Formats: sequence, structure tokens, C-alpha cells
Amino acid sequence: MVMSVSSADELNCVLCHKYKGLSRIDDKGDFRLYYINEQLFESSPHSKNSCLDCHEGIKEVPHKNVKEVDCSTECHMTEPSSDTKFSHDSVKDALARSVHSKYDENGNLKDYPEDYPTCKDCHEQPVYRPLNKDVSSKERDIARCKTCHSSGDFAKDMYKHMSTRLHKFRSPKENINVCAKCHADKEFNRRHKLDDVVASYNETFHGKLIQLGSEKAPDCIDCHVVRGENAHLIEAQDVETSAVYKNNKARTCRGSGCHEKATDNIAGFQTHVTYEAEKYPLQFYMLAFFRIVLTVVLYAFLLIVFLELLRRLFPHATIPSVIKKRKEK
Ligand code: HEC
Ligand code: HEC
Ligand code: HEC
Ligand code: HEC
Ligand code: HEC
Ligand code: HEC
Repeated sequence: MVMSVSSADELNCVLCHKYKGLSRIDDKGDFRLYYINEQLFESSPHSKNSCLDCHEGIKEVPHKNVKEVDCSTECHMTEPSSDTKFSHDSVKDALARSVHSKYDENGNLKDYPEDYPTCKDCHEQPVYRPLNKDVSSKERDIARCKTCHSSGDFAKDMYKHMSTRLHKFRSPKENINVCAKCHADKEFNRRHKLDDVVASYNETFHGKLIQLGSEKAPDCIDCHVVRGENAHLIEAQDVETSAVYKNNKARTCRGSGCHEKATDNIAGFQTHVTYEAEKYPLQFYMLAFFRIVLTVVLYAFLLIVFLELLRRLFPHATIPSVIKKRKEK
């Protein structure tokens, strides 16, 4: 039976896709689940999109010519500030200008192109951060909006939208995990001659604060994206506009309201220090030096404590008297 699915009749999609068993093993032998959890979908930022906004061109059942979803497709919604059809084009553009583009300046593929992230590598969480749905405790704030926006749910909807968007998109820990997928991978770092920046970051004070649950200490994005820029415009450290280019570091540290009084000297602080003799000789030998000093001091101290203990246990013992006693026996 060939049935026509019209984009107006949205529910047609869920009619079939609500069944948990809708799955199969595809031609490559991978398990594919076609089940859509309506509740999860409803609480996602995409809940106002129609299925066809993203899954373009599905016109009939069985579906023919199903294309992969392209996140920069225009959807049916209009973005009010520009009055144009909404899309994630600006993100795609920022990504293309960033170090994460798989093409170099001349448009040639870089080495290991498959190592470069696409939208879905970094945005794979099954549940996106849910919208701020429970605003019952915020009735007072909303009442303020309602002074002027009095009709319908406009004030409430817009309040939800804005209060969600005013927070970081994800918690710092989640952001770090996203980057760690590649940047903590040994093989990846070897291929690209990069340090394990995640391990070194976790060693720092910043990293430790985040592990303790801080939402304020900087995560990767805070330091690697110029303030006010698109979160996807991460650049290599030798690019002059990069947030971590040597001349911009101080500005970055001052920028996010963290080290407001930082002078240019703060640029000397190395964020991703490892103790490799070749790359960071100063740190390596400092660490070695302090280890030796610590060991010497510790053992000297223990020796003193031990001698002191002996004296307390045997207040009158002298070395000759001990020897004498032995001889008498
Ligand atoms: C009559 C039932 C039915 C309706 C209605 C339906 N689908 Fe499907 N859909 C299926 C089945 C069955 C499969 C699995 C097909 C297969 O085995 O290849 C599927 C597969 C898919 C796939 C994966 C295809 C692939 O090969 O990767 C997508 C995406 C999809 N549907 C989207 C939609 C959208 C969007 C709509 C609404 C516009 C929709 N479906 C309406 C039954 C339906
Ligand atoms: C915001 C965009 C968006 C919306 C809206 C959306 N999807 Fe998807 N959907 C995706 C992406 C991205 C994937 C991952 C597979 C891909 O990249 O093609 C996916 C995967 C799927 C799959 C599994 C396909 C496979 O190849 O494994 C099905 C089935 C599906 N969607 C159906 C639906 C249905 C039904 C709706 C409406 C209730 C819907 N989608 C709404 C973006 C969307
Ligand atoms: C290298 C990883 C990475 C890639 C690739 C990536 N993103 Fe993101 N994206 C992020 C991070 C991290 C954030 C959150 C920034 C924050 O917390 O301030 C984000 C935020 C977003 C936001 C929300 C902005 C906000 O503050 O609400 C959108 C929308 C988005 N990404 C879309 C996309 C699209 C579309 C693509 C592909 C063209 C893409 N992303 C590719 C890492 C990535
Ligand atoms: C003192 C009156 C007043 C209050 C209070 C007020 N607004 Fe507005 N708002 C306006 C006016 C007037 C406009 C349209 C003028 C403009 O575009 O600058 C507007 C425009 C908007 C728009 C843009 C609508 C569009 O489609 O262009 C949004 C969104 C909005 N307000 C949300 C809110 C929210 C959320 C609150 C509460 C936190 C709020 N407003 C409180 C008077 C108010
Ligand atoms: C899918 C893998 C992948 C993910 C996920 C990923 N990256 Fe990358 N990253 C790369 C690749 C590939 C390069 C380029 C390495 C090269 O130049 O050989 C790179 C380069 C970088 C560089 C430039 C290093 C330099 O040369 O100065 C920075 C900074 C960076 N990434 C930060 C991040 C941050 C922050 C995140 C998380 C939001 C992230 N990356 C997520 C693959 C990834
Ligand atoms: C406090 C700020 C800060 C934070 C947080 C931070 N970085 Fe960095 N990162 C830097 C600076 C500055 C550099 C340039 C090298 C230097 O001066 O230490 C750098 C360099 C890098 C490089 C290039 C390393 C190389 O071997 O050339 C990568 C990749 C990178 N960072 C990724 C990340 C990732 C992923 C995270 C999160 C786990 C992160 N950074 C967190 C400031 C930061």
C-alpha cells in the first residue's frame, strides 16, 4: 500500500513511529531504531519543528530517497529579528571558519578528515537540555511581563524561552566531555601531534573546581572562544584572532569577569602544562627538583622524630652504656 504523507498532517509520522519495535538491521549490519519517544521530543528545543522540517522530502510510505538530516536546512519557523526562515546556517558558517573545519584555507581536505567534528558529534545527547518548562515559581516575574504583554500565553512562552537561553547551553562538565571525545583520545592526539589537553586541564585549579561542581570556573569554551563570538568559532593558538593567541590571552583571562585586574603577564600562565622533559623542560626539572627536596626534607624529619622517640623511651641510655651492657651479657 502506498500512502501519501502530507506535511500538514504531521501526526502521520508519529502514528507509525511511536512503536518501540520499529527497527531493523540495515545493509551495513547496524541496528537502526526508528522509534520516536513523543515525550522526549515534546520536551526538546525542537518540539516546535515538524518532522518534515528536518526530514525533508519524505512524501510517501514506504519512504523513498531518504536523505541524511542537514542541520543547516531552513525550517518553517521565522526568526523575528531578521524576518527570515530560521536555520542553523550561522553555526555552520562559524564552524567552517574554525579549526574544526575539515578543509584548509585553500579548500583542500586536511589530513584525517574523518577526525573533524560534525554537528552530530558534539550534539548527540538524546535529550537536549530541556526547556525551562516549570516556571510556576516564577509567576511574579511573568506577571511583570504581563503588565504590557497581556494577551494569551505570549509573556509566559517568551519568558520560558529567554530564561532557558540565558544559561549556558550545557553544564561545564558536559562541555568538557564533548571535547574529551576526541581530545582525550590517545590515538587522536598522536595523529594530530596534540597534548592530552583534557588530562592537563583536569590537573589545574580550574579543572578541579569544575569537578567539584562549579558552574563558574572556565570550561574549554570559556577560554577558546573570543567573548561575544559564536561558541563554534574555536581557532588554533597560532591564529592571530584566536582567544588563546599569545597577544590575546590576557584579554581572554580578563574578559569573562574572572581575572578583571589581570595584566599582560598572566599570558605567561600555561594552561595545559604536562611534565614532559622535551616540551616543558622548566616544569619537568622544577618538578624533579621539588620531588628531591621533598624527599630529603621528609626523611630528615622522620629521622629526627625517630631519634627523639628513642630518647624519650630510654632517657638515660648512652651509646657506650648500650655497648657495655651487650658486652656484660
Ligand atoms: C505508515 C507508517 C509510517 C509513516 C506514516 C511514517 N513512517 Fe517513517 N518509517 C516507517 C517504517 C516502517 C520505517 C522503516 C523503513 C525501513 O525498514 O527501511 C520508517 C523509516 C523512517 C526513517 C528512516 C529511514 C532510513 O532509511 O533511514 C525516517 C527518517 C522516517 N521514517 C521519517 C518519517 C517521517 C518524517 C514521517 C512523516 C512525514 C514518517 N516517517 C511517516 C513507517 C512510517
Ligand atoms: C530538528 C530536526 C529534527 C526533527 C524536528 C525531527 N528529526 Fe528525526 N532525526 C533528526 C536527526 C539529526 C536524526 C539522526 C539521523 C540523521 O542524521 O539522518 C534523526 C533520526 C530519525 C530517525 C531514525 C533514522 C535513522 O536513520 O536511524 C527517525 C525514524 C526519525 N528521525 C523520525 C522523526 C520523526 C517521526 C519526527 C517528528 C516527530 C522527527 N524525526 C523530527 C532530526 C530531526
Ligand atoms: C566541536 C563541537 C561542536 C560542533 C562540531 C558543533 N557544536 Fe554546536 N555547540 C557546541 C557547544 C560546546 C555549545 C554550547 C556552548 C555553551 O555552552 O555556551 C554549542 C551550542 C550550540 C547551539 C546553542 C546555542 C545556545 O547558546 O543556545 C546551537 C543551536 C548549536 N550548537 C548548533 C550546532 C550546529 C547546527 C552544528 C553543526 C553545523 C554544531 N552546533 C556543531 C559544540 C559544537
Ligand atoms: C513596560 C512594558 C513591557 C514589559 C514590562 C515587557 N515588555 Fe516586551 N515588549 C514591549 C514592547 C512595547 C515591545 C515592542 C517594542 C519593541 O519592539 O521594542 C516588546 C517586545 C517584546 C518582544 C519581541 C516581540 C517580537 O516578536 O518582536 C518579546 C519577545 C518581549 N517583548 C518579551 C518580554 C518579556 C519576556 C518580558 C518580561 C520579562 C517583557 N517583554 C516585558 C513592552 C514590554
Ligand atoms: C570529533 C572530534 C573533535 C571534537 C569532538 C572536538 N575537536 Fe577540537 N580538534 C579536532 C581536530 C581534528 C583538530 C585539528 C587538529 C590538527 O590541527 O591536526 C582540533 C583542534 C582543536 C583546537 C586547536 C589546537 C591548536 O592547534 O591550537 C582547539 C583549541 C580545539 N580543537 C578545541 C576543542 C574544544 C574546546 C572542543 C569541545 C567543544 C573540541 N575541540 C571538540 C577534533 C575534535
Ligand atoms: C583557562 C583557559 C583554558 C581552558 C579552561 C582550556 N584551555 Fe585549551 N588552551 C588554553 C591556552 C592559553 C592554550 C595555548 C597554549 C598555552 O598557552 O598553554 C590552549 C591550548 C589548547 C590546545 C592546543 C594544545 C597543543 O598541544 O597545541 C587544545 C587542543 C586545547 N587547548 C583544547 C582545550 C580543551 C579540549 C579544553 C577543555 C578540556 C581546554 N582547552 C581548556 C587555554 C585554556
